[in-house]
Amino acid sequence: MTEKRPDVLIVGAGVIGCSIAHALVRRGAAVTVLERDYPGAVTSRASAGMLVPTAEGLPAGPMLNLAVQSLRLYPTLAETLREESGVDVEYSACGVLVPAFGDQAAQALKTRLSPDNPALQWLPRAVALEREPLLNPTLLGALFHPSEGQVNPAKLVEALTQAAARMGAAFHYGVAVDGLVRHGGRVAGVRTGSSEWHAGATVLAAGAWSGALSRWAGVPLDIQPVRGQVVSLRCVPQPLRTVVFGQPGYLVPRRDGTLLVGATQEWTGFENRATAGNTRMLLESAKRLLPALDSATFLDTWSGLRPASPDEQPVLGPVPGLDGLAVATGHFRNGVLLAPVTGELLAAYLLRGTAAPLKPFGVERFLGKKKR
Ligand code: GLY
Repeated sequence: MTEKRPDVLIVGAGVIGCSIAHALVRRGAAVTVLERDYPGAVTSRASAGMLVPTAEGLPAGPMLNLAVQSLRLYPTLAETLREESGVDVEYSACGVLVPAFGDQAAQALKTRLSPDNPALQWLPRAVALEREPLLNPTLLGALFHPSEGQVNPAKLVEALTQAAARMGAAFHYGVAVDGLVRHGGRVAGVRTGSSEWHAGATVLAAGAWSGALSRWAGVPLDIQPVRGQVVSLRCVPQPLRTVVFGQPGYLVPRRDGTLLVGATQEWTGFENRATAGNTRMLLESAKRLLPALDSATFLDTWSGLRPASPDEQPVLGPVPGLDGLAVATGHFRNGVLLAPVTGELLAAYLLRGTAAPLKPFGVERFLGKKKR
């Protein structure tokens, strides 16, 4: 096919691909995005949209730094997207509580307190209940971070695609990529059936499907799908103002009065479906955290497929031996949280060659290792 050859071709219109597209077009690049379904179809829209690096217990070091950097980008990104697309992504620094229901859990949570994270506090039981009076009163206390929060992932994907499209990005839906166009060691684009799409640089941001690179080019990129099922309830009035991150199960109170209960973590391959057993389990976890939820209205349940690398951290940047190709995948439980920083870092790499911040997340760390 003949198309104007873009500077960058992005495979995948999940929140990661869309964020990269948005960051690139804002810097004047010509961008084309290929998506086999519709934006955020399988994973991003299924996410509950928590932005909670502390609650997720991310390991200190590059991963936590990346998450904190991304969280800090959210207030400005939300404003920018509102101006550029007219879509409110419902970003809210509503805080997060991680309750403990036993001594051991409380001790384990307290070990996360650190002078490096001065905003993180331990709330004794009475203070935690003052903040969220309907929490299960048997809690001993809770970790509290006042400025972690949430965003609406469906709105985020809509805002990113609309803003990027208005600035000239071309989105093509229903287009399945099935190989790379290679000229020796250089990747010149991708193949879709009998068509070829050429670009100066190609970014593989295909979420749980990114492992296809192993088939396409023999590069051992081991990305596995990890199913997450979510339940939504309606509660009037909304019983929470804070995200509650239970162990297991979390509760995300949405502005529209819905309350999301997440999420399972299941290694069931590409079988993306919600089950009766998971629904029951999620509802039981929700009730343990907030007994009043027993009388909430059941609305819906769905699932998505998180993309997990072997160390459950993102895989970002160039691919050795394949010039012109970059990857942005493996965000696992934190795709929505890490989308803004991934967009910024990939744009800086693709347009200016800034590779240093991507180093800890390079695909090199898996080369020469056996597949799981
Ligand atoms: N970020 C929470 C989850 O993936 O369930």
